[in-house]
Amino acid sequence: MASAWAGWSSRDDIAAARSARSPRVPPSSVRSVEPCLTVLPSGFWSFVSICSYLHLSLKNGAAVVQEDDLITQERPLSLPINLGLNDGTICPQSCIDVMQQHTSRTSLRHYTTADNEPLLDVICKVDGVKPENIYLAHGSGPILKQCVPYLITKKIKSSTRRIARHLISKNGFPIISGHLTYFKVPIKAMNRGLTVRLLPLSPEDNFKLRVPDVEAELKKGDGLVYICNPNNPTGQLMMERDEIEYLAKKYPKSIFWVDEAYVQYIARDEHAYISDLVPKYDNLCVSRTFSFAYGLAGVRMGYLLSSAERIKEFESQVTNYRFGTLQEKLAAAALTDRDHLIQLRKMTAIDRDDVMAHLKKYDGLEAYASKTHFILCKFTDGRTGAWLGEELMKRGIKIKVFKPVPGQDYTAYFRLTLGVNNENIYLCEQLDALLG
Ligand SMILES: Cc1ncc(COP(=O)(O)O)c(C=O)c1O
Repeated sequence: MASAWAGWSSRDDIAAARSARSPRVPPSSVRSVEPCLTVLPSGFWSFVSICSYLHLSLKNGAAVVQEDDLITQERPLSLPINLGLNDGTICPQSCIDVMQQHTSRTSLRHYTTADNEPLLDVICKVDGVKPENIYLAHGSGPILKQCVPYLITKKIKSSTRRIARHLISKNGFPIISGHLTYFKVPIKAMNRGLTVRLLPLSPEDNFKLRVPDVEAELKKGDGLVYICNPNNPTGQLMMERDEIEYLAKKYPKSIFWVDEAYVQYIARDEHAYISDLVPKYDNLCVSRTFSFAYGLAGVRMGYLLSSAERIKEFESQVTNYRFGTLQEKLAAAALTDRDHLIQLRKMTAIDRDDVMAHLKKYDGLEAYASKTHFILCKFTDGRTGAWLGEELMKRGIKIKVFKPVPGQDYTAYFRLTLGVNNENIYLCEQLDALLG
């Protein structure tokens, strides 16, 4: 099937198509959910979903196919919806084509090659690296989890000076990052007894990590700088490519880990990605995932780009033949689809503007500009993210809220992630009801 977006050439085309659509969830079915303001068992939500499905698709006894279905293969709203995990929205049409090629009972009977070379070749072309610079994993989360054990073995235990520093002050190889970021690496480091130094990120500065602040830390000793670009949950770049390159060159014994989980939401002409610098700087690590911009979280694929020596170390902890044919082909198709990211960025910008327009209407709330498919918000009138989280959960929507940890209090904040069209409409209706 040809892409339903074929021929969409401008933001206006998508906007026109969007406004031509009627809300997927009729107000009546939304209202039928509202009286149930308690935490409800999952069976209830399944029941609501089935009712909603029957209502929408068997109207007047005939199946109704809406334009949305062609664009996003969107299913009727199914509550509860999870807007707390940052799932992407749509996958490339090329991935659908791959799945449609695997319909026979023999189509998956063969192993792939041991190291998934066909996919490595595609990554080499897209990212300007060599096969020995790539480590494939089941998502980028598992790679981030391997980072701290790697540092302990390779950066602390391998040097008597660093062992001594670690034992005396826990400063064998500290983690340096921003206050409000994705916490997988800092948490793991704290749990393993490493020092974590979090630097201020302020909305006035677009939540940027300031180079002089990072340098002040690195002058005390080498460490790993975790740069989430663009950052979860702020939706903004923590650093520009030339700033990271400047630091990587000046501090060769430190490691600069750039988590580009959401980078494809930003066009390359607006922000230069950093992967092609990997062959030039041994101390650079770039992690990527197919979970968000490629809409393939359910496929579980990600990769790390770094020096051949570091990649060998990561590889030594896993077996080959660990990715199946479908994973390999879907990932390669995603990376080579020429239309997908252009369409996704347009669609995301429109949906983000729509949700933002709702958020801007409410008193006592600040919503920060985002380059991604999620929006960071803050109550300025004493209400907490946890309060909104609970209220939305009663209406079948899960969002991300922030628990206080020592030295940090982000309880006034919450993060909303864009879903597919009918989820966004439902979200805005519920926000209007609670905050409008
Ligand atoms: C910044 C960032 N990096 C990495 C991940 C891990 O994603 P995955 O394991 O699906 O690749 C997430 C997930 O939320 C994330 O927000």
